[in-house]
Amino acid sequence: MAQIIDGKAISQTIKDEVKQEVQELSAQGIPVTLAVIQVGEDPASTVYVNNKKKACAYTGIRSLAYHLPENTGQDELLDLIGQLNEREDVNGILVQLPLPAGMDEDAVIEAISPKKDVDGFHPQSVGALCIGKPGFLPCTPAGIIEILKRSGIDPAGKECVMIGRSNIVGKPMALLLLRENGTVTVAHSRTADLKEVSRRADILVVATGKAKMITAEYVKPGAAVIDVGMDRDENNRLCGDVDFEAVSGIAGAITPVPGGVGPMTIAMLMKNCVRAARMQNAAEKDS
Ligand code: GUN
Repeated sequence: MAQIIDGKAISQTIKDEVKQEVQELSAQGIPVTLAVIQVGEDPASTVYVNNKKKACAYTGIRSLAYHLPENTGQDELLDLIGQLNEREDVNGILVQLPLPAGMDEDAVIEAISPKKDVDGFHPQSVGALCIGKPGFLPCTPAGIIEILKRSGIDPAGKECVMIGRSNIVGKPMALLLLRENGTVTVAHSRTADLKEVSRRADILVVATGKAKMITAEYVKPGAAVIDVGMDRDENNRLCGDVDFEAVSGIAGAITPVPGGVGPMTIAMLMKNCVRAARMQNAAEKDS
């Protein structure tokens, strides 16, 4: 039976570390503030945004919530982002995705100042990650690196296979595993013989969006399996992209769904907010 990695416990430890840092910064007269923008009424987005607000309250980060109606014009949203970019009392800006149809997500992401890009989605942050320069890391892949480190799993020299190639998870995850000196393969829906490729992995990260797709046949005995999925099974119960019951019998370590990668994303967002406040403050002192 695999070691079951408790992402909830790891994320709690990180949130407690952040809380401590926020207290220390506050004592130095540096409050930390995150602006969260939601446009429209997507129910999943409402849940995510509420969880982000809750995590802010727990860690002592001030959250400013902007909930705009579904029919908000793109210019209005860009104006708000422009104002928040200028405000010295706002350290991080997050626009919850997806945006309503008709809005240009790329233009909205690019409008956020890279100094406040706590989601790590701005092309400047993505470019910095690509060439190994400092910048904000996207929260889910950064959280997975943190899970691996805190579970004693070092990607250095290991075969790492990332299944999925999205901008939010697959691509940045591959770059981060490479940064940690893994030997990285990116597989996807068009990969020939996915089972064979997947079975090479010492560390297998799965973000396919297909419920329980990864069965035991895809997994090398003893591998660490990280499941980024958030799906519903045939009984409408929350499950991942990995068939947990089957794979936990063969893997060396595995993250469950729920309680694995999910809680890490918000913990890393909190960490990015603290980093933003520290960087903006250091820059002020320099100028
Ligand atoms: N929608 C789904 N995941 C995310 C995320 O990490 N950040 C934002 N802004 N929107 C999302």
